[in-house]
Amino acid sequence: MIRTDRVVIVGAGLAALYAALVLAPRPVLMISPDPLGQGASSAWAQGGVAAAMDPADSAALHAADTLRAGAGLVDADVARLVTAEARDHILRLTALGTPFDRGAAGGYVLSREAAHSLARVVRVQGDQAGAQIMRALAAAIRATPSVQVAEGWVATGLRTDGGRVAGIDLARSSGSATVTVAAPAVLIAGGGSGGLYAVTTNPPRIRGEALGMAARAGAVISDAEFVQFHPTAIASGADPAPLATEALRGEGAHLVNAHGVRFMTALHPDAELAPRDIVARGVYAEARAGRRPALDCRALGPRIAADFPAVAAACARAGIDPARRPIPVAAAAHYHMGGIATDLDGRSSLPGLWACGEAASTGLHGANRLASNGLLEALVFARRAALSIGRDGPPAAPVALPDPAPAAPPDPVLVARLRQAMTAGAGVLRDAQGLTEALRGIARIEAAQPDCPRLANMTATATLICAAALARQESRGAHCRTDFPDPLPDARRSRMTLAEALALR
Ligand code: SIN
Repeated sequence: MIRTDRVVIVGAGLAALYAALVLAPRPVLMISPDPLGQGASSAWAQGGVAAAMDPADSAALHAADTLRAGAGLVDADVARLVTAEARDHILRLTALGTPFDRGAAGGYVLSREAAHSLARVVRVQGDQAGAQIMRALAAAIRATPSVQVAEGWVATGLRTDGGRVAGIDLARSSGSATVTVAAPAVLIAGGGSGGLYAVTTNPPRIRGEALGMAARAGAVISDAEFVQFHPTAIASGADPAPLATEALRGEGAHLVNAHGVRFMTALHPDAELAPRDIVARGVYAEARAGRRPALDCRALGPRIAADFPAVAAACARAGIDPARRPIPVAAAAHYHMGGIATDLDGRSSLPGLWACGEAASTGLHGANRLASNGLLEALVFARRAALSIGRDGPPAAPVALPDPAPAAPPDPVLVARLRQAMTAGAGVLRDAQGLTEALRGIARIEAAQPDCPRLANMTATATLICAAALARQESRGAHCRTDFPDPLPDARRSRMTLAEALALR
């Protein structure tokens, strides 16, 4: 076992980088599966960061929209806190070199996204927010000597001592035996579970491993059943599916089916700008009925290429000219509202373990995350968790990680089966039979490669999603049970340990 006084941060997306900068000069060991700045969902975020920057807007209005979108499960105190801190974080990101779009008078250019009562999303070069924020933060990390980035490593397990998290197992991301590092504090900031589904907008490595690792160590998981499906992933057959940002709909793009019918107008008064779960179910229903849903951006004309370069590039790769024909779309797993249950300082139920970003469940998103609140939550809780862990700590030499013996990574055939099982049983629409079958399938997949901790982390998260979905006998936000179509009068967040979830398997 290697001992270090460095704080270990699992992950290298927005929450991880921001937390490391707040912790500085306290020494950090950051576990980055890919080269720094690559491979994290944050870098793929198109829309931007929601924040009340407009004089006509307010944190209170932003909090009210967050509460309304969350279908009764948003923690009002958390919504107030996060929306009140939003402006400061935008100013910090600006100071760190993020080139947010500015108008002629110098004000932030704001996009309109679904379920926001006004334009509120700060953006960069149209749809480049995630990529540009990550570029700025990665540059800041490289200039921060207290941060040691272990590139090409993944966390595979947590070590506990008397109930306290005391260290972490690491392996090479290409597959290797594990190395154990004992550390004073572990911050999990590498969340996301989209890749547990067959169709996802998340980068390939995002498969619920961090959440599963915490659950296997005994951490309480909240709201695991709430997986957000994005309604407008580009249905080009690519895996992952590229995103067509919601901001396009904010600019007037419409959803149509193969008959040219604008189907969302019949489903919600706000049509394409209805809460995301409603639009996702609308798109899913059209696809299931064989009516090929598509996003008609033709009215935007040349603005697509100018203002949405990532969408334009994805369309070009798929041979689609969005100025001439609607972009075929599908509902795709996009964001996990559930996660490691944390308090206002990012503390998990296990002493020594903190979580932030998509890995955490803070209570901000409820049953349906408001668009562009994800990056905002990552910023707010990364900072709070870092301050809670503490900026004071002894100096620490860089950790010398040995070259462990090669070992088998998760079997790709089993991972593909897991993704199919989750899509079939725990997708946009769920029922008891499908969820029960998914749980059985997950158990068989887990048993087929018993000595692989990374697969065990994925199946732990998949089990928690299905078990919590089975236990929630109602429909609410992104969790839609065809056998329990109505919400219960009493809205409650869920809390579950892996042991409790396994009892339902
Ligand atoms: C989008 O740009 O449509 C995604 C934004 C988000 O997921 O918050």
